Amino acid sequence: MDKLILGIESSCDETAAAVVLNGRTVLSNVISSQIEIHKKYGGVVPEIASRNHVLNISQVIDSALCEAGKTFDDLDAVAVTYGPGLIGALLVGVSTAKAISFAKGLPLVAVNHIHGHIAANYIEHPDLAPPFVCLVASGGHSHIVYVKDYMNFEILGRTRDDAAGEAFDKIARVLGLGYPGGPKIEKLAEKGNTDAVLFPQVEFSDSSFDFSFSGVKTAVINYLHKLKQRGENYCAADIAASFQYAVVNVLTEHTMRAAQAKKTDQVVLAGGVSANGALRRSFEKAAEQFGKKLYYPRPLLCTDNAAMIACAGYYKAQSGEYADRSLNAVANLKL
Ligand code: KG4
Ligand code: ZN
Repeated sequence: MDKLILGIESSCDETAAAVVLNGRTVLSNVISSQIEIHKKYGGVVPEIASRNHVLNISQVIDSALCEAGKTFDDLDAVAVTYGPGLIGALLVGVSTAKAISFAKGLPLVAVNHIHGHIAANYIEHPDLAPPFVCLVASGGHSHIVYVKDYMNFEILGRTRDDAAGEAFDKIARVLGLGYPGGPKIEKLAEKGNTDAVLFPQVEFSDSSFDFSFSGVKTAVINYLHKLKQRGENYCAADIAASFQYAVVNVLTEHTMRAAQAKKTDQVVLAGGVSANGALRRSFEKAAEQFGKKLYYPRPLLCTDNAAMIACAGYYKAQSGEYADRSLNAVANLKL
């Protein structure tokens, strides 16, 4: 039986709603980004994010239904991100989803944001099915996940400090490029030399798949600081390229090693950082070398959106996992 799901996402600075049929057919995917608002502060200000979600959410949901040519009465369920993320921001989506569920008598599905990022790949690749190894790299997370089936996950590696996207955002800030940093570093790095500076790529002695990005972040900051103290000029493009290379190389190497360990020939990329062209090229090369099939979503589905939440919600609903109306947001929700 067909299942039409309204997805709602408000975990950070994007207010988003989407209507998705049977988990994989996107009828609408509306995203209202607050980037312009947060730019002047150099990053997301949580209270401002919550307030803007409140202002935008009804309009975004109306647009999603209208673009899909559907009404609330056509829906079979409402899926919403309930964590991880900024608590005030999450609460806006969760309260709205609960209100719709109550008013329309619709089942409610609570979605983990990281599950959503992984699910973006099911929308993009109709042939993709678990098991596979997935790198989820975004502003808040850097995880290597073994996706056993649509609802079962094993975390193989995680960051022990900063997320990869967080490091991109920080380095963009010190280079004066603004927020969000990832796309700006990527663009600048195109004109730079990846071998200009050798920045650290942390490996743990227990040969775990974990990451650490605070070292490379500090190394870039110290490097710039020393040059500035000596009054020496530097080439920002070379620094961006060398930094990006160090991060991309570690992400690629650990993920491929994890895929080898799990004996899977499917490797999947997800999350905002997976929109990065250098990262994609590095994985393409490694996938060819290791004989793996590589999947990643188009950039719009890499960063936060609600179609991925509706998709993850579909698989949760298929396994009968519904939430009740006592659902609360969980800022540090684990996968
Ligand atoms: O998945 P996402 O939209 O939100 C979170 O769940 O965090 O990811 C946002 C992060 C930001 O840190 C942003 O700088 C990074 O993804 N990002 C990129 C690129 N596009 C977005 N990082 C590197 N290269 C990009 N092209
Ligand atoms: Zn995200």
